[in-house]
Amino acid sequence: MSDALQWGGRFSEPPDPALLQFGSSLEEDLVLAPFDLQCSAAHVTALEEGGILAHADASALRGALQTVATEIQTGAFAAFARATHAEDVHGAIDARVRELARAAGESLHAGRSRNDQVATTLLLYCADRAAKGKRLSAQIAQTLVSQAREHLAAETVLAATTHWQPAQPVLLAFWLSAAAEPFLREARRFGNVRTDAMRSCPLGSGAVAGSSLPLGREAAARELGFTMPARNAMDAIGNRDAALDAAHAFVRSLANASRICEELILWCTPAFGYARLSDAASTGSSLMPQKRNPDPFELVRGTASSLNGHYAGAVGSICGVALSYHRDLQVTKAAIIAICERGYAALDAFARALSHLQFDGTRMSAQAGAGYTVATDVADALIATGIPAREAHARVGAEVLASERSGNLPAWPDARASVRGKATIGSTNPLMVAQTLESLQAEIAQVRE
Ligand code: ARG
Repeated sequence: MSDALQWGGRFSEPPDPALLQFGSSLEEDLVLAPFDLQCSAAHVTALEEGGILAHADASALRGALQTVATEIQTGAFAAFARATHAEDVHGAIDARVRELARAAGESLHAGRSRNDQVATTLLLYCADRAAKGKRLSAQIAQTLVSQAREHLAAETVLAATTHWQPAQPVLLAFWLSAAAEPFLREARRFGNVRTDAMRSCPLGSGAVAGSSLPLGREAAARELGFTMPARNAMDAIGNRDAALDAAHAFVRSLANASRICEELILWCTPAFGYARLSDAASTGSSLMPQKRNPDPFELVRGTASSLNGHYAGAVGSICGVALSYHRDLQVTKAAIIAICERGYAALDAFARALSHLQFDGTRMSAQAGAGYTVATDVADALIATGIPAREAHARVGAEVLASERSGNLPAWPDARASVRGKATIGSTNPLMVAQTLESLQAEIAQVRE
């Protein structure tokens, strides 16, 4: 029986290697290794505080954990874990610590279950990734606001669409600040997710019922940065709510990125020609020599949709899980890690691709009035003179029809006059947009603090 296995005394047969392999979560949870080290160090504190571990043994264990930390960085630990066929990263770290710390190593697992470790390390991991997601979301919002500032000064106008049909002229700066808003919301959400993840520490749950050893749970929770030790061991080991929230925050951020990608992909086509992704961020065709494709935006869109499927899988995987730990939660963990890792990578690529994007303000502005986009302003002007809305709508509609038939364009205001004429809070009026950008900028600075 492999020495890395943390059980076996009551077994009379060795494990079926294929089933052991099927049950291994090592590959997916290697990314948790640094968090298990923190968790293991905090457990040493809990054992020492409870008088279960002598000071010399605690020091030996801390020294061994330090060595493993270095081995994680060099890649030597992953090689060790694979070679020992450990069931998971927790068993592998325990095995390595026993090698390094000899006698003291035999006591690291006192009063501890992998159930406690899985729950605690997943929270530490999710809190870490949420912090990274927050930084990235704020950075994306900032990039969009900076681009908006530039185009506000140039008064670049754009035909806003609904149903992809020309609707009304707006400033490109207005579109860009509309794109920035969700990322400010995502930055805040990631921050809340992090706070939630760090509220309640499962370490010391003793697999399900709490421990009869006097573990210093308060000290361990504090050392890890949690607000308090979890108050119900059974809930703590099976609770995946904050981890699912972290995954969901990535899924929703990507959904928001994907919506922007969808529009930018069209803008990058020669038919639109509103935007150009630099050569450094585009890819070519192996057959059609003229092609330049905005692949990063398409990959972000595809990843958003695929990770949404992973998220449904993660939630689905807990539905049949009774209170406490059941092995299904290993599948939940794998889905959550995949979402956080791939979600972060896609969000990072989105941020990078945005910085490679140039808007063609001249072309965009030239098209802003096409499709009778100022018709609403013409109708509003009639309403302002006292004409009932229904009649104004019908009159302007008739003018559009007549113009379409005759090919003569009506003498209507242009797109820039339309945006300047908007009067409501939250509108595309350049003065409003300037104010919006200022408050967006202030809020971005606040979340970045
Ligand atoms: N590899 C397992 C996981 O990732 C560790 C927990 C095992 N606990 C147990 N009681 N078998 O979830």
